Amino acid sequence: MSLDLLVKNATLASGEIGVDIAVSSGRITAIERGITQEAGTVIDAGGYLVCPPFVDVHFHMDATLSLGLPRLNRSGTLLEGIQLWGELKPLLTVEAVVERALRYCDLAVSQGLLAIRTHVDVCHDSLIGVEALLEVKKKVAPYIDLQLVAFPQDGYYRYPTAQKNLERALDMGVDVVGGIPHFERTMADGARSMKDLCEIAADRGLLVDIHCDETDDPMSRHIEALIYETQRLGLQGRVNGSHLTSMHSMDNYYVSKLLPLMAEAEVSATANPLINIVIQGRHDTYPKRRGQTRVPEMRGYGINVAYGHDCVMDPWYSLGNADMLEVASMGLHVSQMTSRDDMRYAFDAITHNPAKIMHLDGYGVEVGCNADFVLLQAKDPIEAIRLKPNRLAVVRKGRVIARSEPRLSTLALDGRPQTVNAADYHPVSAE
Ligand code: FE2
Repeated sequence: MSLDLLVKNATLASGEIGVDIAVSSGRITAIERGITQEAGTVIDAGGYLVCPPFVDVHFHMDATLSLGLPRLNRSGTLLEGIQLWGELKPLLTVEAVVERALRYCDLAVSQGLLAIRTHVDVCHDSLIGVEALLEVKKKVAPYIDLQLVAFPQDGYYRYPTAQKNLERALDMGVDVVGGIPHFERTMADGARSMKDLCEIAADRGLLVDIHCDETDDPMSRHIEALIYETQRLGLQGRVNGSHLTSMHSMDNYYVSKLLPLMAEAEVSATANPLINIVIQGRHDTYPKRRGQTRVPEMRGYGINVAYGHDCVMDPWYSLGNADMLEVASMGLHVSQMTSRDDMRYAFDAITHNPAKIMHLDGYGVEVGCNADFVLLQAKDPIEAIRLKPNRLAVVRKGRVIARSEPRLSTLALDGRPQTVNAADYHPVSAE
């Protein structure tokens, strides 16, 4: 029987080189050297890295690509971003949100980003974003795993109809329960929202993903309440704390108590380094705090940590390109995670770690997994983060859904090579 797809001469993230990957009926059926079976499509990987697709577990697809509508964020702060989003919401239409989201998904596919968890704002009674993104989810299902989080952007208690709207969104088919405790009116309301939202998730059998403590206030400790509710309701392994930037500023002694509790409750974390490095520390003069939670320390306690993109060209962030390697690069820079081991972890934080948070089935480049993978113009995960290379092929369920030509520059210099391929510049000694 002939194969649907055969990838020849690939390097794997584990460091294994010269392997072939056989695909039949949308699954990886063999990974070994010298496979000689016939195949409908053959890709010569040329010794480059084949890795699982990138996963973005924290995004806002209802706002993406709206940059400039109805105006720009002049201060660049989180609060002006939320205000600006509030001005845009009444102007949204289902058609426009669907169109922007689909365009973003096209870009994502070209970057090998095939699984996205997006928050969708429920603080607008029309629930236009929910309706639009449920439609997008259906449309992109053949090529992107899209998960939706019911997100009360303006506060679960603070926005008058958020409680009702969140339940409506879940009834309509939204997958995950969201929240924003630090934006409620009081600390007590924030903690109460953690209790109520986790109870809704427990009752409905859903996952939880909270915008938690996205502030520089060291006393913003809703993560503690989130951990407590996770433990109390038996939600271990199903809860994610997003942002957690207040932890950056917390007292060290308090954090030394907090992280073991987080590990015990199996609460995962998602840092959003591109966004928080520009949004946090805005009230500081100098020294100016970095806007990232304590990733290496969480890793040390065995907590599962992912990096999310959060925003692309929207009220909060005017840059971004659906490139999770750029996200990982910023993540390791702001945490000073520059050992070889740390940098490999940064690659896991945009692949396997978020896949675990999303509970994706059949994820990974292993026999029996879905035949979803990306061929990068780089030789290993660290080089991939360094180069942010072209995605030479993106494969979904055994079908090539995107291709790029290798990046190659031509030189006109006497006595020097005619071409430069950045992927040929390896470390002299990697270990
Ligand atoms: Fe966010």
